[in-house]
Amino acid sequence: ATSRSDAFVFFGATGDLAYKKIFPALQALLKDGELDMPIIGIAKAGWSLDQLKARARESLEHAGTVDEDAYARLCRQLQYIDGDYADDTTYAQLREALRDARRPLHYLAIPPSLFPTVVQGLAEAGCARDARVVVEKPFGRDLSSARALNRVLHSAFDESAIFRIDHYLGKEAVQNLLYFRFANTFLEPVWNRDYVQSVQITMAEDFGVQGRGAFYEEAGAIRDVVQNHLLQVTALLAMDAPVGHDAASLQAEKLRLFRGMRPLRPEDVVRGQFDGYRDEHGVADDSNVETFAALRLHIDTWRWAGVPFYIRTGKCLPVTATEILVDLKVPPLAIFDTIEPPQSNYFRFRLSPEVVISASTRVKQPGAEMRGQSVELVARRDTADQQTPYERLLGDAMRGDATLFTSDASVEAAWAVVDPVLDLPEPVHTYRSGSWGPDAAAALVTDCDGWHDPAPDAAGAGSV
Ligand code: BG6
Repeated sequence: ATSRSDAFVFFGATGDLAYKKIFPALQALLKDGELDMPIIGIAKAGWSLDQLKARARESLEHAGTVDEDAYARLCRQLQYIDGDYADDTTYAQLREALRDARRPLHYLAIPPSLFPTVVQGLAEAGCARDARVVVEKPFGRDLSSARALNRVLHSAFDESAIFRIDHYLGKEAVQNLLYFRFANTFLEPVWNRDYVQSVQITMAEDFGVQGRGAFYEEAGAIRDVVQNHLLQVTALLAMDAPVGHDAASLQAEKLRLFRGMRPLRPEDVVRGQFDGYRDEHGVADDSNVETFAALRLHIDTWRWAGVPFYIRTGKCLPVTATEILVDLKVPPLAIFDTIEPPQSNYFRFRLSPEVVISASTRVKQPGAEMRGQSVELVARRDTADQQTPYERLLGDAMRGDATLFTSDASVEAAWAVVDPVLDLPEPVHTYRSGSWGPDAAAALVTDCDGWHDPAPDAAGAGSV
């Protein structure tokens, strides 16, 4: 069942996702010798194969990664089918192009509204047989639409053949999170409600919606990055150890964690919108869509009961960085408290842009007084030659390795967590561009010394 795919088909070949992510990933896979097979782009754009090759070239130049040898190979292997997704002849052409393929992979780089048409077209033409399918977010816009999408996919593909991309899971730092947790003895004894005071996850971006106003109006921060990237990260951070080496064991533990997440209530959420958002192209003058969300999540498992998980994300914040802070409880006795209040230790995981894991420790400063300071023990990873998430994930999907993909059940469970706080009627709080979001977010954090703001660079511990 885990044989390699032997043809790569991508719908939406002339689109944005192909331009930004797929061509660079294909080039990287070609370079590594992992894509010695037909590469078939499909779209309805009235294009020729030469136009698609030129587009691929532009994409690689834009990414700054042209490799002449790999690009030449891409051109030799690339085919293009220009056709309507609702038209039988499109799939007849595809079937012909796939005549030597036994296990094609179909990447649906198209809006989910087109999934039913394409999945049916593939199934009726016999192109879904023994095939794999890769899909992208947005995977639905709430629980019920996510269920409907899963039904559509399952009508033609077995769950084991479906690869749902959450590009966060393809990041080296996110994989390192999982590795670090389960390859170190010292962590497990403290990784629970007895020792952890609170957990904070901040995904900050110092830019706005970058011309994607119309898209963003349909999403908002909770749909765009909380339901997927941030809850996935939370799951890896908080799950129990998988019992086996296979993808299914990992998925099972992640799912158990998702199911332990208590559905959010409106009072657990503070939504903000940066000033100027409503002037963006494609945004309504009275838009109530959030570009910032801060939330308090509870995980009702034996391990985490009572430990708040604070999650925060926003556009137009002071820095671009994603960081996790796991704050430990203070020591049981405050032996040095005549001089200073007891202070906690923390683990800090900087997931991007740099990859850093650190643990804060208290050490004594030289001198007569028992006065200390926090010093971080730091493990830092060079990010220079890392695979990009898309290269990694597409390579894994071709091999049939589902470890870094999301399952039907976990996607639905994650939607169930955010479903009650989607499209809240209360007006969003406005915040100043370049600030850490609305003041109201501070009131959410009651179990620790306020929000931890990631520093602009990895070396700084930020305001802990
Ligand atoms: C995407 C969101 O999924 O993730 C964007 O749609 C966001 O709004 C992006 O900017 C962040 O991903 P990365 O990998 O660039 O940090």
